[in-house]
Amino acid sequence: MKPKLTRTTFVAALGIGTFTALLATAEETRVTFPDLDALIHYTTVNRGNVTEHMLTTQAAIDAAQAGQKIPDGTQVVLVDYREGEVYRYFVMEKGPGWGAEYDDGRRTGDWQFQFYWGDQSINMEESTARCQSCHQARSDVEYMYTYNDLRRFAQ
Ligand code: HEC
Repeated sequence: MKPKLTRTTFVAALGIGTFTALLATAEETRVTFPDLDALIHYTTVNRGNVTEHMLTTQAAIDAAQAGQKIPDGTQVVLVDYREGEVYRYFVMEKGPGWGAEYDDGRRTGDWQFQFYWGDQSINMEESTARCQSCHQARSDVEYMYTYNDLRRFAQ
C-alpha cells in the first residue's frame, strides 16, 4: 500500500517549489460529481474488457438534436465498467465563463473535466490538462467525441 501523505507533509518534504509543480499536475476543478440517476444513457462504447456508458441531460440531448449549443450546467459522463464493476467516471461539465480560467492552449470552450475513481473520489494524480488537450480536437462538436451519437440518439 502507498503511504498516505498530507499536503503539509509534501510541503515540508519537498519544498514550496515542488508543491506548486504538484498542484499543476493534479487539481480539483469546478466539476461536481453528477447525480447519475438524473442523466440519460445515450450511447455505449466497448473497448476490449472496458465498457463505457455515456450519460448526459435531457436538455443537452434536446439542444444537440435541435442543432443548438449545449447549455451551461450540462454534465456529460463516461462510466467506465470493468468486469461489471465501475472502475472510474470521467466527467465534463460546462459552466458560464469557466473556460476563462485556462489559457488558450488548454481551453476547451467553457467545459471543465474531472477524473473520479469508482468510489467517487477524485484522482489527484491525473492532470485534467490531458483530458483537455485531447478533447480540444473536437472543438467543432462541443469538445465531445460522441456528439454524433447524442444527435442520433432516439429515446
Ligand atoms: C487521448 C485522448 C483522450 C484523453 C486524454 C481523454 N479523452 Fe475523453 N474521450 C476520448 C474519446 C476518443 C472518447 C470517446 C469514447 C471512446 O472512444 O472510448 C472520449 C469520451 C469522453 C467522454 C464522453 C463524452 C464524449 O466526449 O464523447 C467524457 C465525459 C470524457 N471523455 C472525459 C474525459 C476526461 C475527464 C478525461 C481526463 C481524465 C479524458 N476524457 C481524457 C478521448 C480522450
